[in-house]
Amino acid sequence: RASHAKIEHDRVKLFLCSGETAEILLYGATIISWKAGGEERLFLSEKAALDGSKAVRGGVPLVFPVFGKSSNHPTDKLPQHGFARTSRWEILDTATESEEFINVDFGLGPENLTVDTRKQWPFDFGLIYSVTLTKTSLQTKLLVRNEGQEPWEFNALFHTYLRVPDVTKVAVTGLKGVTYRDKVQGGAEATEESDKLTIASEVDRVYVKVPGTVKVEDIEVGKTLYTVERSNLDDVVVWNPWEKAKTIADFGPEDGYKNMLCVEAGSVSSWQPMEVGSFWEGGVTISI
Ligand code: BG6
Repeated sequence: RASHAKIEHDRVKLFLCSGETAEILLYGATIISWKAGGEERLFLSEKAALDGSKAVRGGVPLVFPVFGKSSNHPTDKLPQHGFARTSRWEILDTATESEEFINVDFGLGPENLTVDTRKQWPFDFGLIYSVTLTKTSLQTKLLVRNEGQEPWEFNALFHTYLRVPDVTKVAVTGLKGVTYRDKVQGGAEATEESDKLTIASEVDRVYVKVPGTVKVEDIEVGKTLYTVERSNLDDVVVWNPWEKAKTIADFGPEDGYKNMLCVEAGSVSSWQPMEVGSFWEGGVTISI
């Protein structure tokens, strides 16, 4: 069958004629499944709410306009990670179908936000989120526009929960020499010494201004599982809750942290300023 998109009441499913698929909820424009090479590539908690009652635990939630919680900033009334992941997006009718790729674009603007969220962050903005599936990659792109009469600033991040066979047997490469803020150590700054970051306990680090491509490798087999290429996104967050997963109500199974690693491309270490009428675009391509 030819590549095609199937639109359902709460989600879009993308099918590539070579067999790859992706599934995106309108809620948060959250990608909840990406299948390539015959395998599911994203981790989705079995307890994740998919009904729009809370942000999805797994897949690729979008973080905008604030990463974490801010203080003394115009975003400080917003909940952790902002509203993009908890708002219902619109499908823009720009899906293109071909042998090589299939794409769908989503839009979010003030008219899609709740009255409460508007009060928490009253700026005028337009977002276009573009998701493209190819045979070997998942490509995501976020276009941000200031549509108001005053400047504002934001963080953005693609909170990608990668599925891995065994997190203790993978390494993240491409971070050596990069400064990071260690959120497990209260935000202490450190420099990555290793060219192969391995995970053996809770990890929550914001790597600031990462120069090149980051990869997730299977250190036992010696093969690359994922290649993460960023465009206009300086920072990379690496997160695994380890046994704290037990304390996260919607995280399941309890030992599911062994099969996931969040490698999150974003612009979060400093605020991205947006002058009136200006555009910003950032994106990430994950290849297998
Ligand atoms: C990561 C943060 O990006 O997201 C972590 O660095 C946080 O500190 C994690 O715990 C999950 O956040 P949430 O809001 O989805 O539970």
